[in-house]
Amino acid sequence: MSELNGKVVLISGASSGIGAALAKELARRGALVGLMARRSEKLETLSAEIVDAAGRAAWAVADVCDDDQLNGALNQLESELGGVDIIIANAGYGHPEPAHRFKHGSSIQMYDTNVLGMLRMIDWAMPRFLAKGSGHIVGVASMASYLGLPNTASYCGTKAAMRVHLQGLRVSLAQEGIAVTTICPGFVVSELTDKNKAPMPFLWPTDRAVRLIANAIEKRRGEVPFPWQMRFLIGASSRLLPTSWVEILLRQMAPKKSSRSGSE
Ligand SMILES: NC(=O)c1ccc[n+]([C@@H]2O[C@H](COP(=O)([O-])OP(=O)(O)OC[C@H]3O[C@@H](n4cnc5c(N)ncnc54)[C@H](OP(=O)(O)O)[C@@H]3O)[C@@H](O)[C@H]2O)c1
Repeated sequence: MSELNGKVVLISGASSGIGAALAKELARRGALVGLMARRSEKLETLSAEIVDAAGRAAWAVADVCDDDQLNGALNQLESELGGVDIIIANAGYGHPEPAHRFKHGSSIQMYDTNVLGMLRMIDWAMPRFLAKGSGHIVGVASMASYLGLPNTASYCGTKAAMRVHLQGLRVSLAQEGIAVTTICPGFVVSELTDKNKAPMPFLWPTDRAVRLIANAIEKRRGEVPFPWQMRFLIGASSRLLPTSWVEILLRQMAPKKSSRSGSE
């Protein structure tokens, strides 16, 4: 029987992509899943699918940028499903951000969703986990957390902030019985990658990615980067090459100045 059997898991960004597929996989392993996102119809459909497959699920609408809405949703799911064992901060997004069209408002919004959205969930869960001396915090960061890539500075910055923050929590909370898992996916099929027009090497199907993520949660792993090919390339380049050489390589991926005319 899975370690996740009977565990109450609350997951943000459960209306599509990795979040929706992961919720189904966790429910299949016996977890009681609390689904959160902004699109109610998607949550309602997913919840019904899980219940039809003999799982247990509840849902609540929440924008992770809105403190009151998010706390209200977390409280509601806790009262419907019982004391929470695991939170998964998965809600997030990214989009291309050419430097010459940089808009700080759009960058702030991304940090609010990806980073502060996660911190709001952790703030809600932490007193509960500390009081019972157990619990599990999971954040879905990205392979993009390891490098500042051209055209996606804000996205990489948000994911790096998540990864390093979670690492700090992991080493702080180990003695409290609270596990912290950081998931760092490469490219995975989802609504996010459906919109991406750039090449996506080693793209994984969603089902394969969520099986790996569910295994990592079950085993209370620390940092979990995948796929291995991307992990190897990023690890090797950052360990073997000086940063200035890595940046020369990364510069080749930036849009050329001459190709911008007419796109301002
Ligand atoms: N797919 C990849 O290749 C990949 C790689 C690395 C990391 N990731 C990370 O994986 C996570 C899931 O992304 P995905 O690829 O599955 O994309 P997705 O299909 O677009 O899912 C994103 C989810 O986040 C929710 N969301 C976005 N903004 C929100 C907000 N303000 N409040 C509440 N929910 C919000 C969306 O729900 P609503 O729109 O209904 O609110 C949706 O459920 C993200 O954090 C992403 O950065 C993805």
